Amino acid sequence: MMRPARSTAGAQNVAPLISRRGAELRYSSYDVLVVGGGIAGLTAAVGAAHRWNVGLVTKGTLDQTTTFLAQGGIAAALSPHDSPELHLKDTLEAGVGLCEEEAVRVLVEEGPARIRELEQLGTKFDRQGGKLILGREGAHSMARVVHAGGDATGSVVASALAQVLTSGGRVELHENEFVLDLLMDSGRCVGAVSLGEEGELTVSLARAVVLACGGAGQVFAHTTNPLVATGDGHAMAYRAGAVMRDMEFMQFHPTAFYGTENPTLLLTEALRGEGAFLRDDAGERFMMRSHPRAELAPRDVVVRHMRRVFDRDKTDHVWLDARHLESRFLRERFPTVHVGLQKRGFDLCTQLIPVAPASHYFIGGALTDTWGRTTIPGLFACGETASAGIHGANRLASNSLLEGLVFGERTVRELDRYLAVADPAVRKVRLDLADERREGNDAAAVAESRRTVGQVMMHMCGIVRTREDMEKTRTTLEALQASLAAPGLSVAELELFNLLTVARHIVATASVREESRGVHLRSDFPERDDARWRRHSLAQRDAATGELVVESSTVVESSAGEG
Ligand code: SIN
Repeated sequence: MMRPARSTAGAQNVAPLISRRGAELRYSSYDVLVVGGGIAGLTAAVGAAHRWNVGLVTKGTLDQTTTFLAQGGIAAALSPHDSPELHLKDTLEAGVGLCEEEAVRVLVEEGPARIRELEQLGTKFDRQGGKLILGREGAHSMARVVHAGGDATGSVVASALAQVLTSGGRVELHENEFVLDLLMDSGRCVGAVSLGEEGELTVSLARAVVLACGGAGQVFAHTTNPLVATGDGHAMAYRAGAVMRDMEFMQFHPTAFYGTENPTLLLTEALRGEGAFLRDDAGERFMMRSHPRAELAPRDVVVRHMRRVFDRDKTDHVWLDARHLESRFLRERFPTVHVGLQKRGFDLCTQLIPVAPASHYFIGGALTDTWGRTTIPGLFACGETASAGIHGANRLASNSLLEGLVFGERTVRELDRYLAVADPAVRKVRLDLADERREGNDAAAVAESRRTVGQVMMHMCGIVRTREDMEKTRTTLEALQASLAAPGLSVAELELFNLLTVARHIVATASVREESRGVHLRSDFPERDDARWRRHSLAQRDAATGELVVESSTVVESSAGEG
């Protein structure tokens, strides 16, 4: 099994993305610096603050995260008819042979306790007659998804955690603070450098850093992810020398509102769980003929069949039909979707709704073990920024909030162990930043380049991929990168550089994987190829040359996921 050695990158204090550019420099210091304010970051910060001095830095505000937009809910074996074993089986099957069974077992076994703790913290999950209401979603063999506020689960959960975080006064919270890069000292992560709203740079020294920056849906033009989801955590982990795993796997959600908005409105899978149909232009329920579970087939399967309909009918969307469901029920169970559609001139109760796949969840991330440890000492990752191995090649619906909770909490337990023995103090590293005054790039050109990345990735390396298209994509991305001057200290520019980094990784790893599996669909290699490709891709920055190196590693054997 190929396993890159623990990184030795970091001979320099900070990776080369930024220059100081005359900015004011501030210093702060923590035991633990958490980067990101979604469910994983909040869980890690709240937990770590029981023992340690914690800072949480987030590029936006706590209500601008992907977690905040989450609709469906959190999957866990909470029903007396359910069991972690069944949840494990469904997750492994959905993951098409690439899940790490040990990690999935941790997820499903520890999930129920984490949900009960969330309730104790004040989250009000929807109940009927005192009992939790459990929703059904695609590829689950039974109803097991708890939700809150109908389809407002993410905002309810995030608000409860944010309330604990801010009321406790134990975590120093910095919103609207963009983390540029990790701070490295002799191969160890010792903090991060961030850019504040006034253009000042803050050097946060930390004995441990937790990356929980969410995903990178904005790499693609059609996405349900908020504007902030630009792969910053992925890009900075890579620049620091971390091993990145399975970067070719971006999950597209089948039912996003069809249109050109960025981000677009998600129409939660729970709608299909409650009985909504997918129809083609002729009104036919095409999933009936395509999979025994029809509209509740695994997400990758639904998207593939939608693509077939698009090709056959020369269209780019299908229709979600909830007209046969009771109007009052729809309004109460799906207030976010109902109101969101009203704003766009559609009525969920009486009209067919046009839907198309949109990038939704990034499976690729910084390789971690089941304790949140990356390949860099002192650097931890959890949530969408991490690859703990639980999603395989296709994530099971509503396993992602659960991932943030379970692995956020396990990261805290590991921090307790790590900080008890790690060097007590981080020495004050000298910040090796060039001080040249970079002009950076024109704002209009940056916005245009971001649109180009989204379009080329969506159409040439999105749902269906071929060698030829990916070669063209690579050339376009390289030309775009070459046309840009080194970034100045503007968030839009730095996001663009991060998007380009992640896009290049997706193209490089997707080109190498010559098969179709889960959310990775190649029309030039349409079959799944277990003999060659039941493997993870690993991407790492070569410390000597600065080049991207792609290798692979085996999956720990399990009998499941063979479906
Ligand atoms: C949804 O509500 O359909 C999204 C749930 C998920 O992505 O897990």
